Amino acid sequence: MEEHRYSHRVLARSILTRPDGGAALAGQTLCVGGWIKSRRTHRGVVFLALSDGSCASSLQVIVDPEKELDTEQLHTGSCVLVKGELVLSPGKGQAVELHAREFLHAAPADASKYPIAKTKLPPEFLRTVLHLRPRTDLISSVARIRSALVLATHTFFQQQGFIHVHTPIITTSDCEGAGEMFQVTTLLAPEKREHLVAPTQDQIDAARELVTRCGDTVRKLKENKSSSKAEIGDAVKQLKAAKDEEARLVKRAEDGGADYSADFFGRPAFLTVSGQLQAETYACALSNVYTFGPTFRAEQSHTSRHLAEFLMVEPELAFAELKDDMDCAEDYVKFMCQWLLDRCYDDIKLMDDKLTESGALERLQNVVSAPFARITYTQAIEMLKEVKDFTFDTPVEWGMDLASEHERYLAEQLFQKPVFVYDYPKAIKAFYMRVNDDGQTVAAMDMLVPKVGELVGGSQREERYEVLVQRLEELELPLDSYEWYLDLRRYGSVKHSGFGLGFERMLLFVTGLENIRDVIPFPRSTGKAEL
Ligand code: 4AD
Ligand code: MG
Repeated sequence: MEEHRYSHRVLARSILTRPDGGAALAGQTLCVGGWIKSRRTHRGVVFLALSDGSCASSLQVIVDPEKELDTEQLHTGSCVLVKGELVLSPGKGQAVELHAREFLHAAPADASKYPIAKTKLPPEFLRTVLHLRPRTDLISSVARIRSALVLATHTFFQQQGFIHVHTPIITTSDCEGAGEMFQVTTLLAPEKREHLVAPTQDQIDAARELVTRCGDTVRKLKENKSSSKAEIGDAVKQLKAAKDEEARLVKRAEDGGADYSADFFGRPAFLTVSGQLQAETYACALSNVYTFGPTFRAEQSHTSRHLAEFLMVEPELAFAELKDDMDCAEDYVKFMCQWLLDRCYDDIKLMDDKLTESGALERLQNVVSAPFARITYTQAIEMLKEVKDFTFDTPVEWGMDLASEHERYLAEQLFQKPVFVYDYPKAIKAFYMRVNDDGQTVAAMDMLVPKVGELVGGSQREERYEVLVQRLEELELPLDSYEWYLDLRRYGSVKHSGFGLGFERMLLFVTGLENIRDVIPFPRSTGKAEL
């Protein structure tokens, strides 16, 4: 039995997750560290359930009264590093137990005050103790599943020849154009606040007068034969400065006041809502790339599916059309599900056991065993219109954006598995999506899954320069801000596609948890940002 390389103890995982439950290790003396999950006493013998978070199960530690060890203070929540002998367990539920010989470390917790002393605590309550909830079975399982899916993600894309790219968190582009960006600014600092205030009409008038006066000076100097070139040059410079200042004040007044030239980046900057646009630049050079990082949306939504800060996995594929994009998304989601079945079975099983309506195991098995459905948006609308046994809050009509109730009905009732909906109306989608030949729809796709609704959103990108310019103009987006994006179409344009998978939505799907705040360690949403 090997000790953990960086701490003098054996991980519970290396005992309890062996096929024999650790039976072959009986007789060995070893050290285990962790937090006490529960304690009971029977005929003077103390039974501790010890968890170090390395796997879904706890190790049973037995303290015999003959050993005269002090266990008085060791209640639920206490931390111990205990040395003892591993013996075959006569009890049910575990192959081995540790007979304590010595506590090398014992830090008590007052069970009467410990907020999570009880075993069955609802997720809503656990959200009020974010700093302690990783000690519960539920949240520690979620953490291991999350970590496993990070590795699964990198493994999948790297195996398929994708290059990982770090796209910026601070950006000056708005990818989705939905007006949901958090602004990044240093203008709120006391010494910079004056730059936030709109200039008054008096200030603008004064700047205008200065321009007139400087203009007069230049004219007079030019009329006067004895003026030197240098004199005229200086006056022209002053006139230009005065004009710039006037233009700056006018622009500030128009923009609502802030003088962004005094801001940290000299222009408005935001937290990214998606790394897609930047990923496209690398896809148009390295051909297959993916970015996997935090994204931010200032959505005022209090739903169980939205966060203000979440992770997105965004591959971008060159020489690929919408069908290839859907194939990639389907393979990736299946790969993650198979990965969990192979490597996180106990944690998935724990979800099934702990949550009344998880269905996690069955859902994963279903996902890996059958192809996903694929229908056009128009077909989806027709199918939803036919629905007789259910009344939607929002009536169904062509042109509408599907709401969560429609998405879930499609995935849960009509298909009972993941379904792609593609070719959405142009009017409800972002500027960068490729316009279809019908002129009405774009090559966009969403993957809808049971329990969650939209898990993936993606599209083929508009690679035709003229069409893209026309789209930007239609949507009244400032062309000059997109010059760099247009360059990708000017110089060696390529058909390319990509998608974004909401990492926390994937965790909802695989765990069966109901609320997205329970699958991210530190949830941020409207009015909530603790720790
Ligand atoms: O559909 P979305 O908005 O797509 C994009 O941002 C594209 N630029 C992605 C791309 O093509 N590279 O977001 C992608 C996914 C959604 O399908 C959803 O799973 C998740 O991100 N998502 C959220 N997850 C949690 N909280 C929110 N507020 C989310 N908004 C989107
Ligand atoms: Mg979307």
